[in-house]
Amino acid sequence: MSSPKKSNEKSVLPAFSLTADGFAQCVLAWQQQHGRHDLPWQQPATPYRVLVSEIMLQQTQVSTVVPYFQRWMETFPDLPTLAAAEEDQVMALWQGLGYYSRARNLQKAARYLVNEYDGQFPQELTELEKIPGVGRYTAGAIRAFAFDAYGPIVDGNVRRLFCRLFTISGQPLSTAVNKTLWQLAEHLTPNQNNRNFAQGLLDLGATVCKPKSPNCEKCPFVRHCQAKLQNRVAEFPNPKTKKTLPTRHGHFLWQLERDGLWLERRPEQGIWATLWALPELESAPENANLVGEFLHTFSHYKLRAQVWQVQALELNETLSQPRDLKAIDQEQLEQVGMPTPIRKFIQQQLQE
Ligand code: ADE
Repeated sequence: MSSPKKSNEKSVLPAFSLTADGFAQCVLAWQQQHGRHDLPWQQPATPYRVLVSEIMLQQTQVSTVVPYFQRWMETFPDLPTLAAAEEDQVMALWQGLGYYSRARNLQKAARYLVNEYDGQFPQELTELEKIPGVGRYTAGAIRAFAFDAYGPIVDGNVRRLFCRLFTISGQPLSTAVNKTLWQLAEHLTPNQNNRNFAQGLLDLGATVCKPKSPNCEKCPFVRHCQAKLQNRVAEFPNPKTKKTLPTRHGHFLWQLERDGLWLERRPEQGIWATLWALPELESAPENANLVGEFLHTFSHYKLRAQVWQVQALELNETLSQPRDLKAIDQEQLEQVGMPTPIRKFIQQQLQE
C-alpha cells in the first residue's frame, strides 16, 4: 500500500505527553471497547459502501443517514447500477438529505469509476481525490475504512478533538489551522489498524469529545489533553465568527389545476439543481394573490420566499423563457425529487 507516513518526521506535538505510537495505541484500545461497531456501512466496508456513507455523512448526522443509506444500497447496490440509473431516481432517493450536489456527484463518481477504472476503486490518495465529490477527507476515509490502509482524516469530529487535545487556537476552518490539523493527522495516523484508528477518532469526537458538554471523564486522553489540563476545554475549538447571512427574496408560482400542481424542473446549475420545485418568477407578478411565504436558510444566504397565484390565462406571460414545466398529480408528488422547504410548503397548503 502506498503513501505511508515518514517515520523520521519532526514532532508536531510540542507539549503533548504521548508519542504518535502511544496516541494510536490509546485510540485503538478505546475504539475496541467503546467505539461503534454496528454501523451499516461497516459491514461489509466495501469501497463503494464507504464512499456512499461518507458522502451522506458530510453535514448530516449518523441517525439521519442510516435509513437513507439502507434504501440507497437496496436500490443501487453497486457502482454500475448507480452509473446507469435515471438521475430523477437518484435525486428522489436523496430527497430530504439536502445539499443535493452530493447526490449528483455520487452518480458522477460512479460513472467516472466505471469508465476510468472499470468499476474498481484506485487505492492511491492522489487518484482517489480525482473522483468527483471526493476531497482530502473522503479520500483518506476510503483508504482507512475500505482498504485498512494509511489514510489520514480531518472532519468536524477530528477538528474538535485535535483543537482541544493540542490547544490549537485560531479560526477552526482557516487555512492556517487546517494546515496544522492535517499535519497532525498525517503524523498521528499509524501504518497498521487504520480502519479501527479512523473509526476511533470519529467515534471519540462524536460520542465523548462532543461540541457541548464533552464527557472528559470518559476520554482516554483526559490526562494528556492540553485544554483539559489547563482547564480551558470550553475555549476550544475557538468559536467561529458568526456572519450574518444576506437575505435573498424569491417569488414562486402556485398553480393548482385539475391535472395537478404545476412544477418546474430546476436548471442543471444553481440552487436545487435538477429537482422539481414550484416555478420561480423573476419578481412578484401583478394582479396576483399571495398564497403564502416561507423562509429557508442555506449555508450562504437566507431565502425569503413568497408564493403567488395568478389567473390561469396569465401563466404563459408570467413565465417568459421556455421552462421544463409539468402538472403533477397530487398523488404523485411524493415520487418526485423536491427540495425540502418546497415540499413542506406544498404539504401545508394541500392540508389546509
Ligand atoms: N462520520 C463520518 N464518517 C463516519 C463513520 N464512518 N462512522 C461514524 N461517523 C462518521
